[in-house]
Amino acid sequence: MELTKVERDDWAERTYEAYAPVYDVFTAHYDYDGWLADLIVVLERYGLRGRRLLDVACGTGKSFLPMLGRAWRVTGCDISASMLDRARAKVGEEVRLLRADMRDLPKLGEFDLVWALDDAINYLLSAEELEQALTGMRENLAAGGLLLFDVNTLLAYRTFFAETEVVEREGHRLVWRGLTAPDAAPGTICESRLEIDPGESRNEDAADCVHRQRHFPEEEVLATIERAGLECLGVYGHGLDGVPKQPLDEAIHTKAVYVARRAGQSVA
Ligand SMILES: C[S@@+](CC[C@H](N)C(=O)[O-])C[C@H]1O[C@@H](n2cnc3c(N)ncnc32)[C@H](O)[C@@H]1O
Repeated sequence: MELTKVERDDWAERTYEAYAPVYDVFTAHYDYDGWLADLIVVLERYGLRGRRLLDVACGTGKSFLPMLGRAWRVTGCDISASMLDRARAKVGEEVRLLRADMRDLPKLGEFDLVWALDDAINYLLSAEELEQALTGMRENLAAGGLLLFDVNTLLAYRTFFAETEVVEREGHRLVWRGLTAPDAAPGTICESRLEIDPGESRNEDAADCVHRQRHFPEEEVLATIERAGLECLGVYGHGLDGVPKQPLDEAIHTKAVYVARRAGQSVA
């Protein structure tokens, strides 16, 4: 694996080093094939072309694996070496994988599509960090390239991050203990503790971890997109069905999805 320097002591990195051994177990029921297919339909509305993808915060590879089947050439990066190890075990040398902090993203190439999926952006804890990440993503866009990312909505923090859920799967018992107030205010930093009992799986590398995320209200995201030298093309919202709809409504959608491109480009 190529290594780029990760300068900052990082909460998200520690969380994912502990979580990596059970990440795929906890997210086993997520339908990435369906979700990504719907996102591609959205991107095609804005002139998606080419087949070069940069998956920022790619984790164990779930957010790029379906794209390999669609003949995309993929580069993936993440702050957690353990998450990347698991991605590498799935794809061998077919995908270029690097350890990188999205707040300090190097230029990795020219990509037709740059995306950061499944609330990776919410691990950024301020608008300044969001601007740093979006600026780095912009620098990796080819001419005409598109950027897409999702963030959790207020509804997600007031429900999933405020409730307890027990998952028993593949010999593991995982307890997701939401620590967030059910009336959390917009822009709040929200936490949930994941307690991992390895049970009969004997996966003792996994450890309890706290997920610390920040809610980003729509107006703040739009202003930050602009400051990062990008132009927002569309904002969507979806619930647990993963089907993007307009307009975004933080009271009924659990995720917001943003599509952008470099500012000042003409339509494809
Ligand atoms: C919920 S996982 C999503 C992973 C993958 N995109 C997916 O859909 O399965 C969030 C990922 O964001 C990564 N991450 C968090 N903060 C990051 C940062 N500053 N730079 C790069 N990756 C980061 C974590 O290590 C983790 O792999």
